[in-house]
Amino acid sequence: MTYAIRSAGPDDAALLARLEAQSFGERSWGENNVKASFVAPRVTILLAGKPANPPSGFAMWRDLDGEAELLTIGVEPGAQRQGLAAALLAAVRKQALETGAARLFLEVDAGNEAALALYRAGGFEKISLRRAYYRDGADAVIMQVML
Ligand SMILES: CC(C)(COP(=O)(O)OP(=O)(O)OC[C@H]1O[C@@H](n2cnc3c(N)ncnc32)[C@H](O)[C@@H]1OP(=O)(O)O)[C@@H](O)C(=O)NCCC(=O)NCCS
Repeated sequence: MTYAIRSAGPDDAALLARLEAQSFGERSWGENNVKASFVAPRVTILLAGKPANPPSGFAMWRDLDGEAELLTIGVEPGAQRQGLAAALLAAVRKQALETGAARLFLEVDAGNEAALALYRAGGFEKISLRRAYYRDGADAVIMQVML
């Protein structure tokens, strides 16, 4: 499947907040935090879905001068396991490389098996562990891929 991927703008705020809430459920950042991402410096938001359909997935990344950070990625439950997150990840990698980033890194909940599998499949490797990093006490795994 070839997905349609585009950058999100302020007009997509409600759509993005809905997608994020559906993807993350109880672990959602919350509508206000999601909407604030549109004014965060050097943050790019991508939306993706089947061509001619509304987007079903999103990713956010940040340009950090020579490196890039994947801030979040999510796909609504009904569209998962069809390669959408992998397509978004590939698009983020391409954009990050074009801005001159040498590596893309991220942090992920050590118990999030789906995300860990996605990142491993995308060539990311674990570089460190932050113990009890999240509010619920879960550890965070820091991963990176060289671009
Ligand atoms: C993690 C998430 C973004 C994956 O999205 P997705 O579109 O279903 O992922 P893809 O279909 O592109 O999967 C690509 C590969 O990742 C791995 N993968 C993805 N989901 C997986 C799962 N639930 N279990 C095991 N492996 C999984 C597989 O290797 C998969 O390839 P395959 O389907 O050919 O086996 C999605 O499950 C999600 O939105 N989860 C909730 C939000 C979240 O936790 N985001 C990440 C933390 S920031």
